[in-house]
Amino acid sequence: DLSPSQVNSIVSHAHYLKHISLPWLSPQQRGVRASKLRMPSQSLFSKSIALIFSKRSTRTRLSAETATVLLGGKALFLGKDDIQLGVNESARDTARVIGGMCQGIFARVGDHNEIEELAEYSPVPVLNALSSLWHPTQILADLLTLHEHAALFSDPVEGIQNHNPKRLPQLPPLRPLTVAYVGDSANVLHDMLVTYPRLGHKLRVASPDNPKYRAPQPVWDRVVELGCDAGIWWGTDPLEAVRGADVVVTDTWISMGQEAEKEERLKAFQGYQVTEALCRKGGANTNWKFLHCLPRKEHEVDDEVFYGPRSLVFPESDNRKWSIMAVFDLLFGKWDLSAADGVF
Ligand code: CP
Ligand code: NVA
Repeated sequence: DLSPSQVNSIVSHAHYLKHISLPWLSPQQRGVRASKLRMPSQSLFSKSIALIFSKRSTRTRLSAETATVLLGGKALFLGKDDIQLGVNESARDTARVIGGMCQGIFARVGDHNEIEELAEYSPVPVLNALSSLWHPTQILADLLTLHEHAALFSDPVEGIQNHNPKRLPQLPPLRPLTVAYVGDSANVLHDMLVTYPRLGHKLRVASPDNPKYRAPQPVWDRVVELGCDAGIWWGTDPLEAVRGADVVVTDTWISMGQEAEKEERLKAFQGYQVTEALCRKGGANTNWKFLHCLPRKEHEVDDEVFYGPRSLVFPESDNRKWSIMAVFDLLFGKWDLSAADGVF
């Protein structure tokens, strides 16, 4: 739902929040004099944020809880066995009740319709913490990670600039990249499809030759509506997908809720493991880097890549916190994402 300028603003804000929030860094390391140390906005002071999670989570939950502390608020974790939702109570009634007591809802749901229904009836903003179709906060963290590592990609030309050049630190600009995705068409990829092309990056995707591993119609409709399809190449050959790639990305082949399809999926994705050999043979750029939302299984990426120097997966995971903090600040703290450009 965000415009490219709002995405850039949030990434820039996340970078800023990260640098002012890291209490273990000295003022010098943070690039400011001690007398100029800044604190994150306390925009969630006296506010409560409901975390409705009907599926497991490590990173998203931890990010939400720890970011809320830094913004001065309280996060309430509501797992699927904790509240009446889905057993004794509808999404409509739950949204109204929670929205009467909390100032924001961060929800991880099964079917995407569930979060649409929460959003329709909630009097407070609702943010998607992962659904069957989308995982928007993951891509914000991925973008922050790519910007932070911009120097690894040669020839920076133009990219986004910090919105207030007087404010340190600057978010490094990122040149237009070629991003390859090898694997299942799942929520993480879907947000890449509607985000990267609008920011000037090219996407090359390989998924098995079966409609169930390609983007579902509502996702593709949105890709087309946003004019992103022109920036996307989609085939079935992983070697072709990684050609010229600056970044190679994958995700689990078996998303949460698909466990019964494990055998069938392991078979369908044979040949899709991300390895040095695959990327060398396919002609990825010599300095290609690797991203993965985690959790990870070895069949989708081998240890050499995952734990090697190409891997940005742990900085990426750290950045979930700062990007979620930026969205919480703007959406739940200030209640005005549309004014994101003017906030910082
Ligand atoms: N990447 C991600 O969403 O991880 P979790 O499922 O652990 O939150
Ligand atoms: N596609 C994965 C992402 C996990 C963060 C899933 O939905 O399980």
